[in-house]
Amino acid sequence: MRVQFTVAIDGPAAAGKGTISKAVAQHFGFAHLDTGLLYRAVGLKVLNGADPTQAARALTPGDLTGGDLRTPDVAQAASRVAILPEVRQALVDFQRSFARGPGGAVLDGRDIGTVICPEADVKLYVTASDEVRAHRRWKELTGKGIDVTEAEVLDEMRIRDSRDAGRDLAPMRAAADAVLLDTSALSIDAATAQAIAAIQAGLPA
Ligand code: DC
Repeated sequence: MRVQFTVAIDGPAAAGKGTISKAVAQHFGFAHLDTGLLYRAVGLKVLNGADPTQAARALTPGDLTGGDLRTPDVAQAASRVAILPEVRQALVDFQRSFARGPGGAVLDGRDIGTVICPEADVKLYVTASDEVRAHRRWKELTGKGIDVTEAEVLDEMRIRDSRDAGRDLAPMRAAADAVLLDTSALSIDAATAQAIAAIQAGLPA
C-alpha cells in the first residue's frame, strides 16, 4: 500500500458519514479525523464566552474529546463559527497535515473533497432524506438523555444544513468527482459495504 492515501467523506448532518468513516478507517487501518469536532470545539468555547478566531487558533487535541461536544446547541454554535473565514483558515493546516500523515487517512466533514483535500484519492458524499436523518439524530440524542422532539431535531437540522450549504466560503457540497451514497434505505452494514467497495476501487492494485 502507498504511504499516503486520503479518503474524503462529506455530507449533511446525520447522513451516516461519521459511522461510515469510523468503520472504513477501521477496515483499512487508516487514521480517522471527524472534522466537525474541530468546529464543535470552537463553538463550545464561543458559547462559553471565547472569541471564535482566538479559540480556533488555540485549539488543542484535548479540546476534541468530551461528551458535551455532541449537543444540539454546540452543533448550531459550530455551524455559526464555521461561516467565519478566520476560523476556517485557522483549522486548515491541522486537517491537511492529518490527511498527509503516514498510512491512509479518512477525513469527514463538509468541505473535505472540495477545499481541504481536493486531491483526495477517493471522495464520498453521503446523504439521506431529511426525515431519515432527523429520525436517526433524534434516536441518538434521546438515547443520551437529551430531551428533544423529532420535529425540533428536523427543524434544527434544516437550519444547520441551509447555513452550511449557503455560506460563501467552503460551502457543504459534493465534489464533482465524489461517489454519491444515499443511505436513506440502507442499513449501517450495507452503507459501509458500499463505501468500502468505492475505496477499494481507488486503491492501487
Ligand atoms: O459534522 P458535524 O455535524 O459535527 O459538524 C458540525 C458543524 O461544523 C457543521 O454544521 C458545519 C461545521 N463543519 C464545517 O463547516 N466543515 C467541516 N468540514 C465540518 C463541520
